[in-house]
Amino acid sequence: MDLTGKNIIIGICGGIAAYKTPHLVRLLKKKGANVRVALTDAGTRFVSELSLATVSQGPVYRSIFPPTDTHGTDFTTHISLGEWADALVIAPATANTLARLAAGLCDDMLATCFLTLRPGKPVLIFPAMDGQMYLSHSVQRNIATLKSQGAVIIEPESGELASGQCGTGRMPEPEAIVEHIETALLSLVHSSPLHGKSIVVTAGPTREKIDDVRFLSNYSSGKMGFAIAKAAGMRGARVTLISGPVGLATPPGVERIDVESAAEMRDAAGNFFPSCDIFIGAAAVADYRPAAVIRGKLKKNDPELQFTLVKNPDILGDFGQQKNPVQLAVGFALEQENGIDNARKKLEEKNLDLIALNFSDRRTSGFEVDTNMLTLIKRGGPATELPMLSKEEAARKLLDTIENICRQR
Ligand SMILES: Cc1cc2nc3c(=O)[nH]c(=O)nc-3n(C[C@H](O)[C@H](O)[C@H](O)COP(=O)(O)O)c2cc1C
Repeated sequence: MDLTGKNIIIGICGGIAAYKTPHLVRLLKKKGANVRVALTDAGTRFVSELSLATVSQGPVYRSIFPPTDTHGTDFTTHISLGEWADALVIAPATANTLARLAAGLCDDMLATCFLTLRPGKPVLIFPAMDGQMYLSHSVQRNIATLKSQGAVIIEPESGELASGQCGTGRMPEPEAIVEHIETALLSLVHSSPLHGKSIVVTAGPTREKIDDVRFLSNYSSGKMGFAIAKAAGMRGARVTLISGPVGLATPPGVERIDVESAAEMRDAAGNFFPSCDIFIGAAAVADYRPAAVIRGKLKKNDPELQFTLVKNPDILGDFGQQKNPVQLAVGFALEQENGIDNARKKLEEKNLDLIALNFSDRRTSGFEVDTNMLTLIKRGGPATELPMLSKEEAARKLLDTIENICRQR
């Protein structure tokens, strides 16, 4: 399975099998996963932080307390790291950490990630220890507690242990751990209500021709729509991405159709309206276009120029009006003032099921930048304000909300 874009935390405890974990991280990185490492203090005795930071290409998380004197430090990583993850894998899991997790302790980054992981995300625990320890009443009781909370416990293998004795307690090889992770993530994909659904996403700006060399457009980069298309594909949806002119790579497994003008985008989208399950209009479609396109290149002869602009088709509104009772329509509203009122009005007028309100300051939110602040408004529901998030994370939150709507139907 391709793990491109999957966010995986590897929690490493102070067991002898920790020496295998840089190889595990490398295998996951090779498969395209984003890997973050949470290492216990005891873990540092068995594997070097430097090796793990190098192979994971990121910091190694240990304490939940960041240095307070560092400018720009994020003091809430102990929350956001767990929220970021698609899966938490604890390998090796010591008897000590099994007890900490079963008791709900929150005394290092690994234990905190276990508590802050979003509901439904898989936790895979690979206990590894001396055979007698593993069979002890305490360890088995803690394993039972963790299982009852939904964690997947992978039985250690039998064979020669660090003590030189034979018994059950060996951590599986990294290749086998990767297979377990793939299986867990795959079954998650299959359990998503978006699995197998046909989703059309529009993204990017449109260009409205003035003459053969000039156009009217806007600052949309397409990043939000592309992030949505990618996240939907990762949940097993069949995604068609209809994109205006942008400089972005097509997400894996996504069918892309490039268009230029609003009329072209409408025609392309119209081909998919009848057969899609969900239509997500994230494109910044130009509201107006020049009434007539000048042939050739407009000469610079006149001191003043006036254009007549005519209204462009309302792609999202068209779908909202045409959709059948099982189809879902999701739109974006870019508003500078009275955001929530205007977004609700748009939701009603276009007959949408969900609208994502955002604004554009081109620094932290909206056009071009890598982050966005969305307020999600469901039909007949409250407005849910999300914090500033990467567009990838904002896309995942949007899809979580769409999944909830699908489940409630
Ligand atoms: C040489 C050595 C090897 C150890 N190997 C293991 C092990 O494989 N599994 C285990 O549960 N504990 C093992 N321990 C004990 C843990 O390191 C100890 O319980 C520690 O407190 C675990 O902390 P942590 O769970 O925060 O990583 C070992 C200790 C030593 C000295």
